[in-house]
Amino acid sequence: MSHDLKKLSDEIDWRIRVFDSLSFPTLILKADREIVSANSNFLEKFDVELDELVGLKCCEFLYYSDLPCPISVCPITRVIEDRKGHSILKQVNINGEERWEDRVFSPILTDDGEVAYIIQSFRDVTRVKTLERTLKETENFLEKVVQSSPSAILAADTTGHLLLANEAAEDLFGYSIIQDGGTITSEDLYPPGKAREIMRMLREESAGGRGKLANTKTTILTSDGTEIPVEMTASIIYEGGKEVATMAIYNDLREKMAVEKQLRDARDQLVQAEKLASLGQLAAGVAHEINNPLTGIMFYANLALESLAPDNPLREDLGYVIEDSLRCKEIVKNLLAYSRQQSTSKMVHHINEIVDKSLALIRDQKVFREVQISKELQDSMMMVYVDRMQFTQVIINLVMNAVAAMDGKGTLTLRTYRDKNAQKVFLEVEDTGCGILKENLSKVFDPFFTTKEPGKGTGLGLSTVYGIVQDNAGLVSVKSTGPTGTTFMVELPLFQPSENTLNPNESNS
Ligand SMILES: Nc1ncnc2c1ncn2[C@@H]1O[C@H](COP(=O)(O)OP(=O)(O)O)[C@@H](O)[C@H]1O
Ligand SMILES: [Mg+2]
Repeated sequence: MSHDLKKLSDEIDWRIRVFDSLSFPTLILKADREIVSANSNFLEKFDVELDELVGLKCCEFLYYSDLPCPISVCPITRVIEDRKGHSILKQVNINGEERWEDRVFSPILTDDGEVAYIIQSFRDVTRVKTLERTLKETENFLEKVVQSSPSAILAADTTGHLLLANEAAEDLFGYSIIQDGGTITSEDLYPPGKAREIMRMLREESAGGRGKLANTKTTILTSDGTEIPVEMTASIIYEGGKEVATMAIYNDLREKMAVEKQLRDARDQLVQAEKLASLGQLAAGVAHEINNPLTGIMFYANLALESLAPDNPLREDLGYVIEDSLRCKEIVKNLLAYSRQQSTSKMVHHINEIVDKSLALIRDQKVFREVQISKELQDSMMMVYVDRMQFTQVIINLVMNAVAAMDGKGTLTLRTYRDKNAQKVFLEVEDTGCGILKENLSKVFDPFFTTKEPGKGTGLGLSTVYGIVQDNAGLVSVKSTGPTGTTFMVELPLFQPSENTLNPNESNS
């Protein structure tokens, strides 16, 4: 054998071996799809002898059909056309088991570039396919978990561009954060400077460990520029020790804060009410104790007076004793009124009527001479269920304070209106007086708090108002105050006729 021939036979030998040792079952076809050869892997898989196979069309063996497969399914036509490899993914059923095959068709070209043969190999990709499907399912599941969370969830890449936002996030921020062509960054979601601050805290060890931010209160910015208080947790996502993204979870705090404020207000009112109640009890007790000795003092002073001769100089002194005792009696009477130990009789009244009548009682006094009185009494049904005498006291106290604050000169406005939805009636007493100093605001309803000079104020006016309003299921507050004047606001429940309020006086009339 010549050297060249030996080389050639060697080469043919290893080429056949390569073909045979291919780990995929493989066929060699002619361009007309006739089977020329198959490797041993193929013969084993399909349990067939080579000579049974050679000469058959590929479709005859694989599908028991003389018709070639449709072009859409069989890539051979395309291989012949563009002389490039093509493949097709096929789901097959082998012994009742679902498998996935990647069938790869590669051309073997002649020296002038025509397709002489086609290699068709069968690769089992069931494992990859199954993994792919599991991955997809896991992804879908995770997506659902994220989407269904009632907390807003966001993720952004290291440059701050947003990658993910769940529905709750879009609700909270008020727009579809992701769909906007990726132009929104995390900086847009916070008031200026906040995003950086959060990133800084995230990288610190102190706030929950490096890369983690434990529950933190902060503020976010919605699409219309509203700042919303939220509670957030955040973390940096690392991959192989490198920062790749950040994620954050937000919970809207507005509702919680509103409830907290209500609770705080309710507690403040309770404290005030308790202070008033205990002082009222104390006052009532003291008044009772003093009443008896006072009666004694007056009785004996009168006796002594009667026994003295008309020109006795001691008569004048005894006159002072009796006069001062009378003043003491008056103070005691006021204290008892303050502690409100009289019984109340609540009835349904129109609030405007009480306002008019209360004003009529006092407006002839000298102090009103230079006061303009403006009434803005709304013209709707504003029935309230209150004790008229007590409520007259409320209005008189507020009005007298207003007039005092204006030093007798200015405009006094009495305003009534209602909020039907909230079922409330409002009464406002507004003055153009000196206003209340900030440091006194929390004290004006306290018993005995007064800024008036001794002898002019008792400091009991507003605390009486407070107690009465509360007894009538209402609220009183300083709506506004400043150097140009003060507005006190009383709110009362709007009486609803359908409501079954027990009112014996009403059924008689
Ligand atoms: N309309 C008002 N404008 C400014 N200050 C007021 C007004 N009403 C009440 N105040 C302040 O609240 C204090 C307490 O009022 P009040 O309880 O009625 O007691 P008094 O009128 O006897 O001082 C007043 O001394 C005054 O400092
Ligand atoms: Mg007063």
